[in-house]
Amino acid sequence: MNLALSKLAVVLAAAGFFLGPGPALAASKHKDPAPPPPTMQERFALCAACHGEGGVSRTPLTPSLAGQPSFYAITQLFLFREGRRANEAMTSVAKGMSDDDLRAFSDYIGQLPPPPPADTPADPLRMARGAALAQRHHCAGCHGADYSGGKQVARLARQREDYLLQTLRQFHAAQRVGYTQAMNEALAGISPGELEDLAHFLAHQP
Ligand code: HEC
Ligand code: HEC
Repeated sequence: MNLALSKLAVVLAAAGFFLGPGPALAASKHKDPAPPPPTMQERFALCAACHGEGGVSRTPLTPSLAGQPSFYAITQLFLFREGRRANEAMTSVAKGMSDDDLRAFSDYIGQLPPPPPADTPADPLRMARGAALAQRHHCAGCHGADYSGGKQVARLARQREDYLLQTLRQFHAAQRVGYTQAMNEALAGISPGELEDLAHFLAHQP
């Protein structure tokens, strides 16, 4: 079991997922009034266990969700649920979700303020190389001049560098196939070393 999955098991256990029907259910002759449904903030606690408070991730290889357009978020949740984007942790999170759940979580994500600037220093040389690469390959043409994304296109600015590099490598190797082929095509002709400069540049957006 990897780190993310064991974390999920702990979270689910805390939420009572693995408990059998309790005494309340057995003796349900006189019904108590139904408890109020959990707020989205309460429901997001499950996500925050991995994606961080307010959707700003402190977990290696786990993306921040803060600032992602809600349409991008719902697209990805859909891909996880349908098993078209492969990740064990996210597949188990998404597989039981209804369409209403997908909508509720992605609407919630869409209104989280974007992450603060990275707390690691930027390397000026790699920033310059990353900027030149991003310009040559028209990344901003789809991701926006400030890389904040929009509609079904991901926000990249201030995303975790380790996650950016991993997911760029997956697109590059056609291990991650998006909603469309846009990213697989955008990375054609880029070398593995150049992916590192791109990830560094995007993670350190001012
Ligand atoms: C056990 C840890 C864990 C939990 C709990 C978890 N996630 Fe994730 N999530 C991940 C990881 C890891 C990824 C990156 C997967 C990859 O590399 O493809 C991810 C990716 C995502 C993405 C895609 C983000 C992007 O930038 O492409 C969305 C959206 C998402 N999660 C939403 C949620 C929501 C909503 C919840 C709560 C209902 C949740 N996650 C709970 C670990 C988790
Ligand atoms: C033709 C439009 C287009 C271009 C050009 C483009 N992208 Fe994308 N990008 C997308 C779309 C759409 C997605 C969402 C993937 C999906 O469909 O699931 C995405 C997703 C990503 C992701 C994943 C983000 C996440 O949170 O998981 C990264 C990283 C990324 N792009 C980086 C880049 C870089 C770097 C460039 C330039 C080399 C680039 N993109 C050029 C459209 C584009």
